[in-house]
Amino acid sequence: MVASKEKARILRAIEPEEIEIAVEEAVNLLKAGEVVALPTETVYGLAANAFNPDAVAKIFEVKGRPSNNPIIVHVSSISMAKKCVNQWTTEAQKLANNFWPGPLTIVLPKSDVIPSIVTAGGETVGIRFPAHPVIQKVIEKCGFPLAAPSANISSRISPTTAEHVFKQLGNKIKLIIDGGACAVGIESTVFDIASHPPRVLRPGIIHEESLFAALGGKIEKSGITNTQSGVLRSPGLLKKHYAPLAKLVCVEWQTVDDLMENLKKLGCDPKYTRILAYSNLPQDLKSWKTTLMPKKATAYARALYAELHRCDEEGAQWIIVQTPPHLPQWEAIHDRLRRAAAT
Ligand code: TXA
Ligand code: MG
Repeated sequence: MVASKEKARILRAIEPEEIEIAVEEAVNLLKAGEVVALPTETVYGLAANAFNPDAVAKIFEVKGRPSNNPIIVHVSSISMAKKCVNQWTTEAQKLANNFWPGPLTIVLPKSDVIPSIVTAGGETVGIRFPAHPVIQKVIEKCGFPLAAPSANISSRISPTTAEHVFKQLGNKIKLIIDGGACAVGIESTVFDIASHPPRVLRPGIIHEESLFAALGGKIEKSGITNTQSGVLRSPGLLKKHYAPLAKLVCVEWQTVDDLMENLKKLGCDPKYTRILAYSNLPQDLKSWKTTLMPKKATAYARALYAELHRCDEEGAQWIIVQTPPHLPQWEAIHDRLRRAAAT
């Protein structure tokens, strides 16, 4: 095991001079085959040299990640992305033009430079050009792409701050770069364009409609979602994932009485229950701990994991989430809530 007595150092990288120092430290460790936690605009990543199988093996060890779950490769330019794939298609170019750098992972057949441990033995690789300036600088200075899953213990909630990373992995890694709270807050959309028709394997803040619009023309959608069992293309896109320690339940309620009835049915104790309301904060809930979540899907996504981390820290046993609207821009949030609720 990689556990050590020494706790990870957290290096702040917000001001330009801090960024320079932090980037240099991260690059030195990455060049030496170590893993480093880095900020991205989606969630924090646990990065290693994607060309170095021994370094990538450390990611699996630190996270306790099953070896059949492929890791996304992060690049700092389209030319770097081209080296990682067998063929850079016109679809890939259109998607990159529209959404890179940003929270989109494109799955394409891999090239020989990507070791099989990165793709879990598969023939395709997920590539992402992240928008966060700190990870961009680190990749540029390394000169090689970074394999990086979310920097959490496997199947737990992804970290959106350096403190979240420290709490889960602080005794297993040497360095965490603190680039502030993640602006997107949930993981990238994973879009498989190696299959025909292309399909979304993991919904994200860039939703299916936008992806197909960017591809243009009449493209038949597969209609397959990763939540339907038996059609999983991505072993990591499992039903239970992104889970808090508390039991999470989504509830639709119109009135406080509705809510109360649900709480009673579930057997929730007010002391150990957190309610994440969406539409309005129910009055008359004196003894219940309640949070009003943001109205807009993007802001809700940014707040969601931080809220779940907080519930866990407070020792909540129940998290009762008021079901958000069933609209396309909320799809990724419904996906994460479904998986957080899965037992
Ligand atoms: O926003 C993100 O994507 C974050 C940041 C750090 O970039 N990364 C992330 O990585 O969420 P991870 O490993 O926690 O989730 C990546 C997902 C996994 O479910 C994995 O199965 C899937 O993407 N994936 C990776 N490579 C794939 C491939 N070649 N084919 C299909 N799915 C793939
Ligand atoms: Mg993850």
